[in-house]
Amino acid sequence: MRLMMLQLLAITITIISSRPTWGDELKGQCIEGERQALLKFKEAFGNTSNRLSSWNSGGDCCKWKEVRCNGTTGHVISLHLNSSYSDDTLRGELSSSMLGLPYVTSLDLSGNDFMKTQVPEFLGSLHHLEHLILASANFSGTIPYQLGNLSRLQSLDLSWNDFNLTVNNLDWLHGLSSLKVLDLSYVQIGSVENWHDALNMLPSLVELHLAFCQLSNHPLSLPYVNISSLEVLDLGGNDFNVAIPDWLFESGHRLQHLDLSHNKFQGQIPDKFHNMKSLVSLDISENNLVGPIPSTLCQLANQRHSLKELYLWNNLLNGTLENSLAQFSGLVVLDLSQNNFKSVITDAHLDKFRNLKQMTLSLNPLTINLKDDWVPSFELEMLRLAHCRLGHEFPRWIQSQKSLSIIDLSGANISDAVPDWFWNLSPTIRYLNLSYNHLTGFVPDLSSHVSLRFLDLSKNNFSGPLPLFPPNILVLDLGENTIFGPISRVCAMFGLGNSLEILDLSFNNLLGNIPNCWTYGQNLTILNLANNHLSGPIPDSFGSLIRLQTLSLDGNNISGKIPLSLKNCKSLVLLDLGNNQLSGTIPTWIGEELHHLKALILSSNAFEGYIPPQLCQLKKLVILAISLNQLSGAIPQCVFPNMVVEQSTPDFYGTLGITSSYFSINYYDLVPFALIWKRNYYVYSGHHAGYWAIHALKIIDLSSNSLSGDIPQEITRHVGLKSLNLSRNILDGSIPSNIGEMKSLEALDLSMNQLSGKIPTSIATMDELQNWNVSNNNLSGEIPRGNHLDTFDYSSYMGNPNLCGHPLTSTCPSEESLQDSHHRQGQAHGWDWDKIHPFYMSMALGFLTSFWAFWGSLLLCRSWRHAYFHFLSHICDKVYVMTAVVEAKLRRKFWSQQVPK
Ligand SMILES: *[C@@H]1O[C@H](CO)[C@@H](O)[C@H](O)[C@H]1NC(C)=O
Ligand SMILES: *[C@@H]1O[C@H](CO)[C@@H](O)[C@H](O)[C@H]1NC(C)=O
Ligand SMILES: *[C@@H]1O[C@H](CO)[C@@H](O)[C@H](O)[C@H]1NC(C)=O
Ligand SMILES: *[C@@H]1O[C@H](CO)[C@@H](O)[C@H](O)[C@H]1NC(C)=O
Ligand SMILES: *[C@@H]1O[C@H](CO)[C@@H](O)[C@H](O)[C@H]1NC(C)=O
Ligand SMILES: *[C@@H]1O[C@H](CO)[C@@H](O)[C@H](O)[C@H]1NC(C)=O
Ligand SMILES: *[C@@H]1O[C@H](CO)[C@@H](O)[C@H](O)[C@H]1NC(C)=O
Ligand SMILES: *[C@@H]1O[C@H](CO)[C@@H](O)[C@H](O)[C@H]1NC(C)=O
Repeated sequence: MRLMMLQLLAITITIISSRPTWGDELKGQCIEGERQALLKFKEAFGNTSNRLSSWNSGGDCCKWKEVRCNGTTGHVISLHLNSSYSDDTLRGELSSSMLGLPYVTSLDLSGNDFMKTQVPEFLGSLHHLEHLILASANFSGTIPYQLGNLSRLQSLDLSWNDFNLTVNNLDWLHGLSSLKVLDLSYVQIGSVENWHDALNMLPSLVELHLAFCQLSNHPLSLPYVNISSLEVLDLGGNDFNVAIPDWLFESGHRLQHLDLSHNKFQGQIPDKFHNMKSLVSLDISENNLVGPIPSTLCQLANQRHSLKELYLWNNLLNGTLENSLAQFSGLVVLDLSQNNFKSVITDAHLDKFRNLKQMTLSLNPLTINLKDDWVPSFELEMLRLAHCRLGHEFPRWIQSQKSLSIIDLSGANISDAVPDWFWNLSPTIRYLNLSYNHLTGFVPDLSSHVSLRFLDLSKNNFSGPLPLFPPNILVLDLGENTIFGPISRVCAMFGLGNSLEILDLSFNNLLGNIPNCWTYGQNLTILNLANNHLSGPIPDSFGSLIRLQTLSLDGNNISGKIPLSLKNCKSLVLLDLGNNQLSGTIPTWIGEELHHLKALILSSNAFEGYIPPQLCQLKKLVILAISLNQLSGAIPQCVFPNMVVEQSTPDFYGTLGITSSYFSINYYDLVPFALIWKRNYYVYSGHHAGYWAIHALKIIDLSSNSLSGDIPQEITRHVGLKSLNLSRNILDGSIPSNIGEMKSLEALDLSMNQLSGKIPTSIATMDELQNWNVSNNNLSGEIPRGNHLDTFDYSSYMGNPNLCGHPLTSTCPSEESLQDSHHRQGQAHGWDWDKIHPFYMSMALGFLTSFWAFWGSLLLCRSWRHAYFHFLSHICDKVYVMTAVVEAKLRRKFWSQQVPK
């Protein structure tokens, strides 16, 4: 999440860092030496971009694109080669031919790719430089102290470069006596002692950005920085875990923009805003702040004051909002989400707002009672009230809001029909989330809503046939409703040029054959059709879904063989075809071609033949579930590397079937400026519960087949495995003696086979084991004892006539003489399958509710499995949260540009 944030910020900052304004191109005659210098500069980038195509050996270099000369002297005075689009990116080194441009005052190379090279020392010799903008340019290494020679420098931006861009010290900053704007965001400054001293030496600084600089590394608290001249201060993302210091308020009288977000600030927000009369935006979101919103802050937000944007989301703030809201009337953006504010908000509290455009109160225990006929005096663009209590009726006052582009009313406890006027959405709407309510009615034809990108109507009671959607929709989730009728209507969505990336129609009442119309679904990454009444074969054209990462057809009546074309879906991470009527053999190409597969679920079908040893090639596999089929032959001697490790390193891509493109496109679309999204190399690094779950779940389930032969020794190498189920086969031989090495196992079921020999004593060392079953085999000898093992009762062992010892009542030969041998025989006879069957069943149920309810339910319990797909919703929630943040940042930047300096 944070990495994603960084990227987004990187982009943001690239686009909007303060830059000198461009005048009209001045006429000037190019100086030959400088022309040569420019050509050399170009040469260093090879052919990586067409950007410099106008730079030819002939002609006046002052007329070349992006070059500007002084009209009088003819010297090159500025080069603006900042890039926003990947097509534009210059890639290479910064050539020292720059030294041939000694009069350059303004150099902007941000957004290009300098391939982790150093920021060159020679830049320190370009003494005329006033603006040096090298943001987001993949510079790495140490920032050269020679930059301190640039005494005319007014703005220096080295933000959002490679993570390893560092400074040894900041003493060189002393030389930058004219500096007004300094942006070192994401430069690793944390190791510099007394970094603040250097900043305090900059007399004319107006803007200071030190976001994500690891400042909290040293010292631990936030030391005093002289901010008396500052208008913009950004200290976000530095993990400060102290109270917000008072000096910020005491000396920050000129501050217009203060960003303390993404730290770990504790305690209350200080009630010291009396003198911060210039404050326009305040962002303290994502900290650990408690208590109420201080009254001096509230006062800044009324119409007589300047505060326009207030971001307090994701803290532990509490108290009531009624009084604060009454004072917030001047705000344009209000984001209080993810706190603990308890209030009943009525229209009276919101009546004074005039300019509000973004209202985000999600995830607070708020009750929001707005009269149906209330007409607000503001015109919202964003309304997010997720998980607030809105009452059972659909909020009708929204009808007055004609400019909405983001609406989130998910989990708001609405049980009503969606009114017709609502579906007549404002043409600006892009994001609509009504999930987790009890909404009813038919979803109408939405195909004319061409701006709609994201639609989540899941977990409601919507019915009617599958509606039509605009071709450029990216995310469509209708899961868990009662949509009925033929699935074939889905074809309307997959015409040429559709952009759908995520489609979830699971848990509805769709029926019929899955149509063969997926040829244009190239951008689909998640397709979930699970738990409908679909029949017929898997269509061949699924083979066109080359970006598909998640395919679930679980719980339908799909029959036939797995089509060969599916081997083109090489991006698949999760393939779930369980609970259908598929037949034939398990194709060998699954192992040979689907290299990214992490979960293969074919349980409860009619597959036959051998388990192909090619499956052993699935290096990333963590879930293999092929139980309840008619498979025969031996268990292949696979070792799956991902199950061999106990804790796998999280990888960012594909874990949940979420691609970078999803995020980028989503942002791209929601945030107009994010067009500049160019390097989608960080995706999702959030520690989302579900995200970890897929790593933690390591399961092999081959139960209820006709597998024979030994339990292969190799299986014990899977020390990361949580559950191994080989029950109900015809396996013979003995239990591998080193099975105790599988220390992570929480469930081990070998019951109902023909295993013989002793139970290995190493079992006693498996501390995580909660469910253990070897009943109904031919095991013999004494049951091993051990602290953990003693907790299992006889149901784990019954049906093995030659087993003895606790917890069975049959004693082992050494003790035998003490017992009546008749008793033992009778007992052994008692484990007759017919007799114990009901008992076995109840044991099995117990098994289900304990272990499987947690881990194994992914495979067995459909609703939980469905929950897997609803990480998606959470992630989407994250996306919109992030969107809001980015948007906010962008707006703020623009705002700051409009404020006269
Ligand atoms: C790069 O551009 C030059 C001149 O346009 C051309 O001669 C050369 O073949 C190009 N090189 C590559 C690798 O495209
Ligand atoms: C051009 O150069 C002259 C002489 O150095 C200087 O006075 C003038 O301000 C410069 N103009 C610009 C636009 O830099
Ligand atoms: C370069 O930056 C300027 C000023 O911020 C901006 O107007 C321009 O669009 C940018 N150019 C590119 C190609 O991104
Ligand atoms: C930065 O440069 C390195 C080295 O050339 C390269 O591997 C990497 O992809 C670049 N990163 C970006 C974001 O361009
Ligand atoms: C920087 O200035 C110092 C003197 O102030 C000088 O000795 C040094 O050579 C200069 N360095 C560069 C790279 O210009
Ligand atoms: C930073 O540099 C160190 C040492 O050169 C290297 O091990 C590490 O991988 C680099 N980190 C990144 C994110 O490039
Ligand atoms: C707010 O939370 C603090 C502790 O976190 C608690 O002491 C206080 O009573 C709460 N206030 C309200 C109004 O709930
Ligand atoms: C599919 O995704 C690619 C890359 O993300 C994008 O360039 C393309 O426009 C998308 N196609 C459609 C039809 O949206």
